[in-house]
Amino acid sequence: MVRSEELGIGYEHDEGVAWVVEDLDLEVEHGVVTCLIGESGCGKSTIGNAISGLLPPYARTYGRLVVADRVVIDGDKMNFTGVRGKVVVRIAQDPASALNPYLTIGEQLSTAIRTHFPGLSEHDVRSKALELLSDVMLGEDVYDRYPHQLSGGMKRRAAIALALAPEPEVIVADEPTSALDAYLKYAVASLLKKLQREWELTLVFITHDVSIARYICDQVVVVYAGRIVEEGASPRCLESPSHPYLELLLKALPKRFSKDRLADIPGMPPRPGMYPTGCKFHPRCPYVFERCRQEEPPIIKAGDRLVRCWRYYEQSLT
Ligand SMILES: Nc1ncnc2c1ncn2[C@@H]1O[C@H](COP(=O)(O)OP(=O)(O)OP(=O)(O)O)[C@@H](O)[C@H]1O
Ligand code: SF4
Ligand SMILES: [Mg+2]
Repeated sequence: MVRSEELGIGYEHDEGVAWVVEDLDLEVEHGVVTCLIGESGCGKSTIGNAISGLLPPYARTYGRLVVADRVVIDGDKMNFTGVRGKVVVRIAQDPASALNPYLTIGEQLSTAIRTHFPGLSEHDVRSKALELLSDVMLGEDVYDRYPHQLSGGMKRRAAIALALAPEPEVIVADEPTSALDAYLKYAVASLLKKLQREWELTLVFITHDVSIARYICDQVVVVYAGRIVEEGASPRCLESPSHPYLELLLKALPKRFSKDRLADIPGMPPRPGMYPTGCKFHPRCPYVFERCRQEEPPIIKAGDRLVRCWRYYEQSLT
């Protein structure tokens, strides 16, 4: 499981720190698929990189982050020793780039297995590598092939097998289906879902793609300006949105020939360090009223989900 408590993440620059994520309370249960969804620049990858221990050295933090029972961020201290690349792994947008072109898939899998499970006999290392290939639905023949001898889809599968070699508990997949055709997109998502179930993994899946989110998610977390604005069980959130931001995102989806990608809604998300006062969405919200400009709404339970919006807060009082 992954839990953050009032987590802040920013990037240091010449004039100070631009805080991207502020006071994030995220709770991802063990063994579910959680989709982080939101427009470009909302902080999805920043959250994903924090969970996978891949923030750059000039990142600054506050609050706490717990990954699989280990406190990895505590105030301004980060400690991912024994966690990064082992307990939690990241699958990037182009997972195939993780493959070494000069080594066969079998050599790469075996090296990873030996690193994480020293003491295994060579026979067991090979068996484990073949098992991983079978888990990602690749044949034994792939063991002796070089990456350039595989199709794009096979390379992705091999890279996913490599990511699984340390037997992680948490996988962060950052846009793993973007830039793929519809067939491959669903093939990759199906594979990740199958592995998540079989291995009882916690999968944090970052995507712009609502159709994939609807397909794969157990939990939806909508992020705006580094904050959770709506959170709940999928696919209901993505069918009947509560927060005005999610409502506009879904309305902006192209209706015909839709690839179900999030289209732009009027205006731009604010840049880190320039977040507005009050509700961070207020300059773009069609329902804005005075309180929205002054005070930031708390996130509250509204029916089957959590929503950060004064409209819901005020309704909850009546
Ligand atoms: N390594 C970094 N150094 C400095 N600023 C960064 C860094 N990574 C992200 N940012 C800034 O943080 C903000 C959020 O970026 P992030 O990549 O987390 O968003 P995102 O939601 O993943 O966007 P996208 O959908 O485009 O991938 C952006 O303003 C971005 O410029
Ligand atoms: S708090 Fe106000 S501005 Fe923010 S989403 Fe709700 S109605 Fe819109
Ligand atoms: Mg990103």
